[in-house]
Formats: sequence, structure tokens, C-alpha cells
Amino acid sequence: MENLESYYQSRFAARTRRIQASTIREILKLTQEPGFISFAGGLPAADLFPTQRIAEATQRILLEHGPQALQYSTTEGYPPLREWIASRMPGASPENVQIVSGSQQGLDLFGKVFIDPGSKVLVEAPTYLGALSAFNPYEPRYISVSMDEEGLRLDELEAALEAHRPRFMYVLPTFQNPSGRLMGLERRKAIVELARKYQTPILEDDAYAELYFSGQPLPTLYALDQALGGGNVVYLSTTSKTLAPGLRVAWVVGPKPVIQKIVYAKQGADLHSPTLNQMLVYELVRDEGWYRAQIERIRQAYQTRCNWMLSALQKYMPEDMGWIVPQGGMFFWLTAPEGLDSLELLKQAIEEKMAFVPGQPFFADGSGKNTLRLSYSSATREQIEEGLRRLGRAAHRMLGRAPVG
Ligand SMILES: Cc1ncc(COP(=O)(O)O)c(C=O)c1O
Repeated sequence: MENLESYYQSRFAARTRRIQASTIREILKLTQEPGFISFAGGLPAADLFPTQRIAEATQRILLEHGPQALQYSTTEGYPPLREWIASRMPGASPENVQIVSGSQQGLDLFGKVFIDPGSKVLVEAPTYLGALSAFNPYEPRYISVSMDEEGLRLDELEAALEAHRPRFMYVLPTFQNPSGRLMGLERRKAIVELARKYQTPILEDDAYAELYFSGQPLPTLYALDQALGGGNVVYLSTTSKTLAPGLRVAWVVGPKPVIQKIVYAKQGADLHSPTLNQMLVYELVRDEGWYRAQIERIRQAYQTRCNWMLSALQKYMPEDMGWIVPQGGMFFWLTAPEGLDSLELLKQAIEEKMAFVPGQPFFADGSGKNTLRLSYSSATREQIEEGLRRLGRAAHRMLGRAPVG
């Protein structure tokens, strides 16, 4: 075994060519140094995890139902939790619900079930990077459709559906990661109708569903499709943004034939999601008053942090830097003047000891070089003020202008 690199290279499956280390990840490793301010990670705020409540509920479950909580359980998931999820989804019964180990696993299993090498998958531009990572090993061909402030452009979408007849389309209508966009009601309806017209199933990723700052939640694509007869939307959501991501409890809700295939795929992956964690999540969410208050705490904290970031952006950014003001979720999405490469900007920002995620990796078609994502969910007021001052300095320097503030 002289050269382990070449020994294994000749044995790895061809699909691993599409699983690569990201240069950005390498760069962001530098941000662990002391004094660094990073808005790169999309981590939910750890100060809002209901740690005490989780400790008490875990103890209760173990004392009262220890053997059940620690035993193997069914692939589909803990029945009371599946019932609770089904009760919140119009037209769904527990048989339509599969518990998964994070919605990330839902994306992987969906890819396994739907994508052959070369299958066309329609995605938003930009889209969630983790979904591209989950789908890539199944070797799809992406069809990217661009977006306006309301979400997918309908004319482009229809042309793409007609020309390509993709296997499915992957859509994030609510506080999209990375752009924070909220798709309006009319756009939602139109997309659901187009998908039905062209018989293209939708995979709806609703990880940020609960993180509205104000106002009433809009109906999900799943609900709108149900109103037209149902069967064309598979819905994905998670406890990662409302309770704690380390629990890895999420769910897929969909038509029975799809759930059946996902059950088989999950059996091969991990048999089932951790029984204790599923019981714990049910124990937490079944106390409706507490659960509502928990979500309210998160909404208020994120809205405050978002407002701090908005004022800092207004104060420190070059005037031709654009952004979407989030109405919920965890991210600001910035568009720099054409020609400013955000990977270069990241290198400049790192010299200032601040970091963000360049936008290009979120585009399956490789566009978006002048875009970037900032996360405010875990940041303090001081970090936001100082971090944006540093980013402003780096951006002004790249544009050859004098910084403000
Ligand atoms: C849009 C979206 N989908 C899915 C996930 C994965 O979430 P989890 O696997 O924690 O449920 C994330 C995490 O950031 C996300 O932003």
C-alpha cells in the first residue's frame, strides 16, 4: 500500500467524481481563528434551543418508556409523530408520512428514488446547495430556471417544462435558502398548476416554514395541489429550525406510491430514524401552547437580528450593492455590481477577518458570480455591526472606492 491515494482512486465508484471537496469549505476553515466574524454558516441560534425542556422530556421518556425508546422501531417512524404531522397537512393521513433523519436524508432518498444518470431535474437558480450535493451522486442533469423577486419566472418555467419534461422540480417557496425569497400566493398557484399541466411532480422543501416574522403563513404548494386533487407534490420539512438540528428529525409527506419507495430506500440507508429522538419531538410538539411560544421566540429573535443586519447593510455597503429584505428565515442575499466576483470579495473579506458564502455554488448552471449569502441567525448586534463594517471596507476596496463609516 505505497500510495493509498492511487490505490483507492481506481476503486472508487465513478459517481464519486461528482462528490468533491469545495474550495469554499477550504477557505472557510480559516474562519475558525479567534477574532473572526463569520456569517457563512447557516446555523440556527443555539441560544434558542429548548435545552431544559429537552432534558426533562428525555428523562421522562426514558423513565416511562425506556425499552421502547431504545429499541429498533419501524422504518416509517413513530406513529404518534406521523399522526401529528398528518394532522397539519391537508388531505394527508399517517400513511402519507415518512420520518427521515433530517430533511437532508429526505433529499438523498428522493434522489435515490427519482434520479437515473442523466435524468433532468428542474431547480431554481439559485437553489439549496445541500440538495445539489444530495442529488449529484445520482448523476442528474440540471435544468436551472431563473427567479424574480416573487420566485421562479413563469414564462421560463413553462418553456423549460415543455422542452425538457423533467423527472421532477425542486422548489423552496418559503424563505428560500439561500435567497430568503418568499414566493407569493399567485405565483404558488401558477406553479402548482403548471406542474400538473406538464405532469411534473414537485418536491417542495419547506425547512423555514415556521420562521415568518409577521403575517399569516401562505398555503404550501402541497396544500394548493391538494385543492386541485392532490398527488403531484411531495413535501419536506424538519424540526431543525424550530427545535434543534442535532435531533435529526424531519419528514416527507407525499402520495403513497412515493412514500412506499422512500420507505424501501430508507431501510437500506439506516433502517429508521432514532426512536428516542422521534418520541422526544412528539413529546415537545404535542404541548401546543409551549410549541407555539417556542416558535414565537425564534421568530422575534431572528427578526431583531435581521433588522440589525439591514441597518448595517444600509450603513456600510456600496450604494450599487442590492439585497432582498427577508420577511422571515435566516438569510440576506446580496447582489453585487456585475463584474464583482464574490469569491474574490471573500478573499478580501478574510483579510479583514470576516466571512460569508459566495453565491455561485448555489447555482446549478454556474452563474451568480456576483452574489453572496449572509446569515444573521446566530449573530450578536456587535458582530453584525463590526462584520458588515469589515465587509463594506473589502467591497469598497474591490470597487476602488473609499469606504464609508
Ligand atoms: C432548504 C433546506 N433544506 C434542507 C436542509 C437540511 O435540514 P435538516 O437536514 O437539518 O432537516 C436545510 C438546512 O439548512 C435547508 O436550508
